[in-house]
Amino acid sequence: MRKCGEETEFRVTLRQIAIFLTVLVSSAVTLAGQNSVYSAEAQAQAEKLLRQMTVEEKIGQLNQSAGIVLPGMTNKPDDLIAQGKVGSLLWLTDVKEINRLQHVAVEKNRLHIPILFGFDVIHGYRTVFPVPLAMASSWDPLVEEQAQRFAAEDARAAGILWTFTPMVDIARDARWGRIVEGAGEDPFLGSAMARAQVRGFQGSSLGTNSVLACVKHFAGYGAADGGRDYDSSYIPEELMRNVYLRPFHAAEQQGAGSFMSAYMDLNDVPASGNHWLLTDVLRSDWHFKGFVVSDAFAVGSLVTHGFAKDAADAAYDAISAGLNMDMASLTYTKNLPQLVAAGKVSKQQLDALVLPILAIKYQLGLFDHPYLDESKVEATLSRPEGLALERKLAARSMVLLKNENQTLPIKKSVQKIAVIGPLADSTRDIEGGWTVEGLFGSGGKSHPVTVLAGIKNKVGAGAQVSYVAGPMPQRNFPSMFDTLSGKKQQAPPTQAEITDTLAKVNSAAADADIVVAVLGETAGMSGEAASRASFDLPGIQQQMLETAVASGKPVVVVLENGRPLDITWAAEHAPAILESWYSGTEGGNAVADILFGDVNPGGKLPVSWPRSAGQEPLYYNHNLTHEPEDRPRFTSRYWDVGSKPLYPFGYGLSYTKFQFTNLHLSKTSIKAGEGTEVSFDVTNSGSLPGDAVAQLYMHQRSGSASRPVRELTGFERVTLQPGETKTLKFPLGKEELQFWSEQKKGWTVDATNFDVWVGEDSTAQLHAELAVTE
Ligand code: NOJ
Repeated sequence: MRKCGEETEFRVTLRQIAIFLTVLVSSAVTLAGQNSVYSAEAQAQAEKLLRQMTVEEKIGQLNQSAGIVLPGMTNKPDDLIAQGKVGSLLWLTDVKEINRLQHVAVEKNRLHIPILFGFDVIHGYRTVFPVPLAMASSWDPLVEEQAQRFAAEDARAAGILWTFTPMVDIARDARWGRIVEGAGEDPFLGSAMARAQVRGFQGSSLGTNSVLACVKHFAGYGAADGGRDYDSSYIPEELMRNVYLRPFHAAEQQGAGSFMSAYMDLNDVPASGNHWLLTDVLRSDWHFKGFVVSDAFAVGSLVTHGFAKDAADAAYDAISAGLNMDMASLTYTKNLPQLVAAGKVSKQQLDALVLPILAIKYQLGLFDHPYLDESKVEATLSRPEGLALERKLAARSMVLLKNENQTLPIKKSVQKIAVIGPLADSTRDIEGGWTVEGLFGSGGKSHPVTVLAGIKNKVGAGAQVSYVAGPMPQRNFPSMFDTLSGKKQQAPPTQAEITDTLAKVNSAAADADIVVAVLGETAGMSGEAASRASFDLPGIQQQMLETAVASGKPVVVVLENGRPLDITWAAEHAPAILESWYSGTEGGNAVADILFGDVNPGGKLPVSWPRSAGQEPLYYNHNLTHEPEDRPRFTSRYWDVGSKPLYPFGYGLSYTKFQFTNLHLSKTSIKAGEGTEVSFDVTNSGSLPGDAVAQLYMHQRSGSASRPVRELTGFERVTLQPGETKTLKFPLGKEELQFWSEQKKGWTVDATNFDVWVGEDSTAQLHAELAVTE
């Protein structure tokens, strides 16, 4: 019996082990599957194809060529494609040319492998949506998701199956021009927006209706020294893990199929040759199954960095780091054959880098349908519903910064409106910097509505609208695109022109009931290679504003810009300020919807708004320091400017008012690893329907690291009727409380006390406490 029992026990034990192993294997598979961007079938097809490929053909798949002939380059894509040396093409939007080149690939390629066409579809294709910083200001991930879904439908119809979006770089320094392309300074908000964009482009998973997302710029680009584009970033691991990497990881967990390596050095190792980033973090820690493309020319510029000694060394470094595809530098094409022949890059290494590219081409349905249907492109790109959607999303993305004496909304019975400022009627600027057709196409087929046009549309014949443009502010050096297109710099205005403009502003304002001053930066003043050392309103816009204010008429400032600007004077002297960012094709109508009260603004700042550029980097989630600012003498502040922002992160007004009450934690004491639920009521205590953005912040009081003074850990945008109350609930558990501890060399929830606040911005006062014990 005993023996038998022992046998049974033994068998049970074996069975238990077998079950345990099955669970282990299947959970490993699930874990891998969770992150996987392509199916087992697509993988099997890719593996089969790979077995038939020569080394040269494999190397071809790792090359992304320019679809345009760049200065200094003689190779037309045709030749390379015919030789099987192109896996992907970028910077091409002409649908006929895309089809023609796809025919070259599929027909002349021994294995008929189609090309993956990529383009920067950043915030819309024909219909241009608000810039990403604006969409983040909606604090509504659905805004991003809907805009990017629409853009994906346009792009896919036009033959673009890969977009270099989302840009999820955290930007704590607005001098850095690329702040406009991301979601601002916060990793929690940034993660939500990153996930939403991936959902928008790819859908719930990558398939035949998706556009492949590319999460960029991996990683730490936003921390460039001095806010100067491309400059080195020095970021310790805990800051990388707790802040800069978080939106990347969120996008990866959402299933993003590709990543783009950044341009700069991270801790002295260029991101495109950085094994820690591309392999240790991305593949080993996160189990990423897609592929990594370099930023444009970045593999070649490993030599420029003083990292690689020559092009062959650069190719070797990038391959060894785990970088799959070389964007535009042809460094892989020219050097990998020798590196493989010499055994420096193994065949297994090569196969591992090619496999995800092929699998994703299968997953996207590119092998089955390589060509686009030219007859359907125009109908898709000109879908009229895009304009209504754009107008709605643009209005949801605007932030009301000031509204004294109920200057806004403007009464529709107004008789005379003076509009001033060069940006007020600039169709080129209102759509922002990344417009697909505007960049490499023939100038674009969208018809943007400027703020001046939007105001005129709104008031119709009922009111007189006068306009003084004034000179367009100029960059003091040409933009990258101006240089490429050979555009000449415009001369600055003469003193006579300035005097004349100011006189016109003076008389237009004197004659009007209200002045709308549209001020900001041209679209080219933010974006790549567009850092600024000052946030002044460029050109003579400040003088125009001061002249309008001196008239004594109420002046509403509408900002059109890609970064916070120095509006300290405006904030003191103008009664109302609306931040509209670059708001897209229907932007002017959306501005008018808010100015005249048809839409109640509900957007909030995704950045701390500085008083001047000297305060940068400026972010709300800093540590407490040895002497916090509130102390009397030895404080962490400047002698001449406080360290507090002009407007805090999360801030934005509405035409109605909200109250936050009844803050309650389901458990006020939990064990590390457990969770509690934070609930509270939000009431619309004003007289108009409106949107509140409820925000939850926390602070860890002590522990294995000094933690930020506040961290956003939950938010929700809700619409409330006058008098209506909603109870909102947010989880607060391991996910929210943990952080990467340098002391513990890993993720931890420290057993200590936490502060919890809820309210309308990062200065929220409604407070509770949470105790976390061992
Ligand atoms: C360079 C930019 O840094 C990147 O964001 C963009 O996607 C590529 N060029 C391709 O245009």
